[in-house]
Amino acid sequence: MSILQANDVHYTYKSKYQAVHAVQGISYAFEEGRLYAIIGKSGCGKTTFLSLLAGLDLPSEGNVAFNGTFTSHLNRDQYRREHVALICQSFNLFPLLTVLENVMYPMELRGIKGKAAKEIAVKKLDAVGLGESYHKRLPAMLSGGEQQRVAIARALASDARVLLADEPTGNLDTENGENILSILERMAHEQGYCVIVVTHDLGIASRADRVLHLRDGKIVDKH
Ligand SMILES: Nc1ncnc2c1ncn2[C@@H]1O[C@H](COP(=O)(O)OP(=O)(O)O)[C@@H](O)[C@H]1O
Ligand SMILES: [Mg+2]
Repeated sequence: MSILQANDVHYTYKSKYQAVHAVQGISYAFEEGRLYAIIGKSGCGKTTFLSLLAGLDLPSEGNVAFNGTFTSHLNRDQYRREHVALICQSFNLFPLLTVLENVMYPMELRGIKGKAAKEIAVKKLDAVGLGESYHKRLPAMLSGGEQQRVAIARALASDARVLLADEPTGNLDTENGENILSILERMAHEQGYCVIVVTHDLGIASRADRVLHLRDGKIVDKH
């Protein structure tokens, strides 16, 4: 069974003056152990679709199912905390917490205590190539690529099996972007995560196992 499934998903932003049909009937099944790229021009609905997968909002029509259960039937706070991890373009680290504390923080929210949380955090930071010399630094003392690696380590420190990344290399130079992509690739192929990356970088897309090309809120091509 696929871990995450979109069934004829629609999403409409409604304001007093207009309605924007951002997602117009997407159906797709995502599996564990694969790297997916969602591509398409700005405004085609990529971020909206990703936020529906992430449970930030519910589809206006259709449904998203996680392990066979509709997100509308799940406790969505719990779903977002435990089952999916979102990585954004702007890293979203806590500026006043150290690298180690940033990775520990979500575990502590889930009741994992100091020492145990620290052990896991150290392991996840190692997995993205950030050794001990980074632990006590603040995000402002890191390059963009390093900050994004911290954000990925934090995502990995949750129990989530689905990693959703919205333009994760958008603020990075080519070399750092490559590095982040290699980490995400490894997470899919060696650790078995379901990794879904929104990108307009065709280089990234060429390394994905599957590519979904969106236009006007629909899949126009998949391969
Ligand atoms: N909060 C919002 N309110 C109204 N329209 C929105 C909102 N967010 C996005 N949109 C519109 O929905 C469409 C899809 O946007 P988005 O999912 O952000 O596209 P992408 O990530 O592919 O650039 C665009 O036309 C955009 O203007
Ligand atoms: Mg977007």
